[in-house]
Amino acid sequence: MYLIDSDGKQYLDFGSGISVNALGHADPEVTAAVAEQIAQLSHVCNLYHSAPQADLAEMLCNLSFADKVFFTNSGAEAVEAAIKFARKYGQTVYGPGKTEVVAFTGAFHGRTMGALALTAREKYQAPFRPLMPGARIARFNDIEAAQKLIGPETCAVIIEPVQGEGGIHAADPEFLATLRDLCDRFDALLVFDEIQSGMGRTGKLWAYQHYGIEPDIMTVAKALGAGLPIGAALMTDEVASAMHPGEHGSTFAGGPVVCRAAQVVLQRVSQPGFLAHVTAMGELLREQIEEIHSPHITDVRGVGLMTGVQLDIDAAPIIAKGFEHGVILLNAGADVLRLLPPLIAQENHIREFTSTLQTIFSEIMA
Ligand SMILES: Cc1ncc(COP(=O)(O)O)c(C=O)c1O
Repeated sequence: MYLIDSDGKQYLDFGSGISVNALGHADPEVTAAVAEQIAQLSHVCNLYHSAPQADLAEMLCNLSFADKVFFTNSGAEAVEAAIKFARKYGQTVYGPGKTEVVAFTGAFHGRTMGALALTAREKYQAPFRPLMPGARIARFNDIEAAQKLIGPETCAVIIEPVQGEGGIHAADPEFLATLRDLCDRFDALLVFDEIQSGMGRTGKLWAYQHYGIEPDIMTVAKALGAGLPIGAALMTDEVASAMHPGEHGSTFAGGPVVCRAAQVVLQRVSQPGFLAHVTAMGELLREQIEEIHSPHITDVRGVGLMTGVQLDIDAAPIIAKGFEHGVILLNAGADVLRLLPPLIAQENHIREFTSTLQTIFSEIMA
């Protein structure tokens, strides 16, 4: 739960490297699995499967809606894969012209050219135009806006069930249900980007399980590799059937070592007891933050250990004070504190954190 800097100062980590270190730092089981795997086989080219890769794919399918998995090295690459698979599927099954991808305001899907086109933020997009054509952006949680943009030319609709970078905003159940209906009506694929919200972060293995709505493709990354770079696009057999060997690929993706690490994480975070712990700790964290009663805290929201603290001031000075007081904090936008502790956080860590946050808010007021 702690990081130690080069001067020996200790920090309680409430950022997890942006939702990555679900098992904290230096987990002994991950370390042992990686060491054992690298001593045996570190790489084979993507003309072959390896046992760690096949086993991980099987675990992911058993634990989700999916039938097939394509591995990547990062989240953005998983989104790129999803875009390519959706375009290939749309054009193969329904003909040319079915190429548009609908995404939402506040979303973050990554910084590669396809993912960037679906991440509608001027600061991120402006220097890199022209972007991938066919991206359409509707207002998040606005049913009418989605109805206007989703149509016969839509091959996919991509959404984070709980927006992370956008400030910890959960999709309304009715909104997600409408997207599922619109996708079915217009033969478009529904893509859930669970790169930040997945892997147990919300107290369910996948955030979509809170809604009882399944996607056709899901992107996963971040916590999957326990700090090693891995992403994945999970999909149904129907979607996979449009893709053939050689149409997409990656040299390093799904290597034996990262897949072995991911097996350990997935095995641990998918245990019902582990997920119940995430739910309980998330509730405790939000309760304790409410107790701070700072006039600068205007909303505390979230699910599981994915919490946003809405401020009426900039988050930056609070984060800087966090460093002074030995806690690592993140922001999401200018005025939201984003709390993403490792999922192994115990009650004493939550209490240590909120007591430090209380001190920070008192100092801000002084
Ligand atoms: C929801 C979501 N999608 C995609 C990405 C991009 O992942 P990566 O940084 O691994 O490319 C992120 C990263 O923050 C994310 O939170």
